[in-house]
Amino acid sequence: MSRNFSEYYKNRGVVDTYDSQRLGGLKGKVTRKLEYVFVDMLTEIPKKQKILEIGVGTGFFSKMLAAKGNFTGLDISEEMLKKTKRILPKSKFVTGNILDLRLKDKYDKVITIRVISHFDKTKAGLALKNINKVVKKGGEVIFNLENRSIARRILRKITNWGSTYTYQYNKRDMQSLIKSSGFDNVKVFYLDHFFILPLHLINKLLFNSLEEAIFNLEMRLKHFAPFSNTLFIKCRKQYS
Ligand SMILES: C[S@@+](CC[C@H](N)C(=O)[O-])C[C@H]1O[C@@H](n2cnc3c(N)ncnc32)[C@H](O)[C@@H]1O
Repeated sequence: MSRNFSEYYKNRGVVDTYDSQRLGGLKGKVTRKLEYVFVDMLTEIPKKQKILEIGVGTGFFSKMLAAKGNFTGLDISEEMLKKTKRILPKSKFVTGNILDLRLKDKYDKVITIRVISHFDKTKAGLALKNINKVVKKGGEVIFNLENRSIARRILRKITNWGSTYTYQYNKRDMQSLIKSSGFDNVKVFYLDHFFILPLHLINKLLFNSLEEAIFNLEMRLKHFAPFSNTLFIKCRKQYS
């Protein structure tokens, strides 16, 4: 599965349509805005720090991260990197594999969004252990996952709903994996609480007035797990 995932993003056509697909519809827009705000909030750091983003894709977060410190972007797909390098010609980018990370430097922050959810538990653990090797002691990792929430489990059982290319984890699944990969101080936030609703339709009926309201509501619900579709996690590399 993870091999297919990595191969998939090497395709030029996938790279060219990536942004429009992710930003399609109200749900896409709100989710992207939330992800952006969470990455920004959780990486609020002084400029001297070293930042590594793994799986930069088309660079949705890279520009913001590059403005916050000494930035390196990594991706397995040359095609994705070509695109992101055009937005950030002065930043450092490397081709690499999160499952076989070969970096000499160590970083204060590692950010990887919409990547680990594509891995089963064994590979997710390997990815986290690899990240641990390139994080400084006390440094932090920020990543997101698809939440194995009650709502998602019920929906999946009834309708077989959901991507077959991703795995779902809940806080408990992840906590032991994170700990055994050498991280602690785990903070978890919850996003995408309204994924079950036909938001696009409701928004149309309400004359496109829903985006701001949903976003504000999502921010208020960031500690509420049961219906959320996405987990945002921040953890710290142990000092000893
Ligand atoms: C779903 S996209 C997410 C891109 C970006 N983080 C975002 O949120 O828009 C996944 C990205 O991870 C990259 N990727 C896939 N497998 C990888 C691997 N094993 N190591 C590093 N990057 C990988 C893909 O090429 C793609 O750019």
